[in-house]
Amino acid sequence: MSAITIKSPREIEIMRQAGRITAAARTLAREMVAPGITTGQIDREVRRFIRKQGAEPTFLGYGGYPASVCLSVNEEVIHGIPGSRVLRDGDIVSVDVGATYKGYVGDCAGTYVAGTASEEAARLIRVTRQSFFEGIKFARAGYRIGDISHAVQEYVENNGFGIVRDYVGHGVGSVMHEAPEVPNFGPPGRGPRLVKGMTIAVEPMVTQGTWEVNVLKDGWTVVTKDGKLAAHYENTILITDGEPEILTYAEDLYE
Ligand code: MF3
Ligand code: CO
Repeated sequence: MSAITIKSPREIEIMRQAGRITAAARTLAREMVAPGITTGQIDREVRRFIRKQGAEPTFLGYGGYPASVCLSVNEEVIHGIPGSRVLRDGDIVSVDVGATYKGYVGDCAGTYVAGTASEEAARLIRVTRQSFFEGIKFARAGYRIGDISHAVQEYVENNGFGIVRDYVGHGVGSVMHEAPEVPNFGPPGRGPRLVKGMTIAVEPMVTQGTWEVNVLKDGWTVVTKDGKLAAHYENTILITDGEPEILTYAEDLYE
C-alpha cells in the first residue's frame, strides 16, 4: 500500500466536495430502499445522480466491480452486486457508495430498512452506526489508529454483536484505498499516529452472530458464515486540530 498522505488545504476543499456528492448519493439510495424495488434500479439512479454532479462512480470497474453501488442485503455484509433482486418488507440493505470528483474520492456507507424491520435488526443498525461515532472520538491528532479500532470493537462487543476482521477501513485520497489500514478491532495504542490533514474511511462491519465471513462464488459478495444479519456504516473523515470533520456529511447522517 501507498504511504500515508497529508492533504493540502486545496485538496481538502475538493475532498469536501467529493464527500458531499457521495453522501448525497447515499441519501438517494437510502430513500429508494423499499419493498418492491430491485437493487439494480437503485444502482442505476445513483450512477445517474453521481454523473449529473460532474463526478464519476468510483466503484464502477474498480478491480472489475460491475456496478456503482454495493447493495448488501440481510446476511450479506459488503460488496453485494446490484441486479434483479427485489427487496422485501423487513430486508436490511447496506448501501456503500463512492464518488470521484476532480480527482479525489469520497467513500461512505449505511444500512437501511425496506419497510419495517424487526427490533433486533433495528438494534443491529443503531449499534453499527454508533460504533462509528464511538471510534471517531479517537480520530484526533495525537491518538493512534489502534485507538479508533479498539473503541469500535469494545462498543460492538459490549452490545453482544460481532465485528468483522477480514475487511478494514482505509486512507482515502486521490485513490479509494490509501494507507493506513483502519481495522475495527485490536488493542489501543498501536498503529500509525494520527496527524492533521490525514483523510481516512472508518467503516465498522457488524454481525448479529459470528464475525466470520465467506465470499460467494461471484467473487464479490461477502456473507456471514452463520447466515445471520450484518450491517455497515462508513464515512470519510478529516483529522483536524480538534474534532474530526465528516467529509461525507449529509443531514441524514444519523438516520
Ligand atoms: N467502500 C468499499 C471499500 O471501502 C467499497 C469498495 S467496493 C469496490 O472498500 F467494488 F469498489 F471494490
Ligand atoms: Co471504504
